[in-house]
Amino acid sequence: MRGATPHETARHLPMMTLPDPVIRPLPGQPPGVSLRRSVLPVAASLLLLVGLPCAGQAQVQARTLPPDTIAERVIACTACHGNQGRAGSDGFYPRIAGKPAGYLANQLQNFRDGRRQYPLMIYMVDHLSDAYLKEMAEYFAAQHPPYAPPQPVTASAAVLARGRQLVESGDKQREVPACSACHGANLTGVVPAIPGLVGLPRDYLSAQFGAWKNGARRAAAPDCMAQIAQRLSVDDISAAAAFLASLPVPSPATPARAPAGPLPITCGSVP
Ligand code: HEC
Ligand code: HEC
Repeated sequence: MRGATPHETARHLPMMTLPDPVIRPLPGQPPGVSLRRSVLPVAASLLLLVGLPCAGQAQVQARTLPPDTIAERVIACTACHGNQGRAGSDGFYPRIAGKPAGYLANQLQNFRDGRRQYPLMIYMVDHLSDAYLKEMAEYFAAQHPPYAPPQPVTASAAVLARGRQLVESGDKQREVPACSACHGANLTGVVPAIPGLVGLPRDYLSAQFGAWKNGARRAAAPDCMAQIAQRLSVDDISAAAAFLASLPVPSPATPARAPAGPLPITCGSVP
């Protein structure tokens, strides 16, 4: 199915009000993030994503707003995810640029439908149609801004070595396949639905495993990543996250067209 055109979405977007950052707690928020840091950019930009369909103001807005294109609409997203979705400057918000479109669309649906829990993300996509989510996913999948150099990672050589072992070879005893068996030989993901693991902040990587372990993040069953997260110890997870975050991003970083072989565990989110 084709995504809705910007003009269709403008008409069909629901009206929303801004969350009150003072009285709303953020229960799913990963540690180390201040409320102020996550809320401020949204207040300014959410209006652009959701504000256009306000019929009473349509005429005034037609004169004062920039053209209604998908690029203009997703400026709301770039307040947190960085220009073109290249990742925030503080190493917390994940890069979304260049990830496989099917993966991005799955995640937007996961936030909307309660399978992922970050409150401000849920708020952004609440009530949006599959067609609009797909349109945004395709927009970001087609963006290829440069990567920032990896943030310096402080971890011992032993920890990084353990991380490398898990990523490149897995752990037979724990029945954990190599991450690269699914995420691509150079870890840049595989179309249409497996994300890359390079260029992501360490805290973000650890937070995702924590969320899989405690059920706050879920994907279509069978949820292969939930199984892998259950099998890894907390120390292994931090080792894998430290190693991945220390890797330079290969160039080009585009997702592979197909995995190296059949996936070692079935993943319900991968068609
Ligand atoms: C308030 C800041 C904020 C805004 C605005 C925001 N996001 Fe996010 N987004 C986040 C955070 C934080 C996460 C990671 C949440 C988590 O830990 O699961 C995230 C996660 C995501 C993911 C999953 C990334 C991945 O690799 O799995 C996608 C896709 C995404 N956002 C897309 C969007 C889109 C599209 C918009 C605009 C409609 C948007 N975001 C607006 C903060 C934001
Ligand atoms: C059997 C295939 C498979 C293996 C093996 C695998 N993954 Fe995944 N991984 C996936 C799939 C599929 C997704 C997308 C899940 C979704 O849609 O939420 C994913 C998603 C992720 C994400 C989320 C990325 C983001 O941007 O939010 C992280 C982090 C991750 N995997 C890390 C790892 C690590 C580290 C390993 C090795 C220890 C690993 N994976 C092994 C299939 C796999």
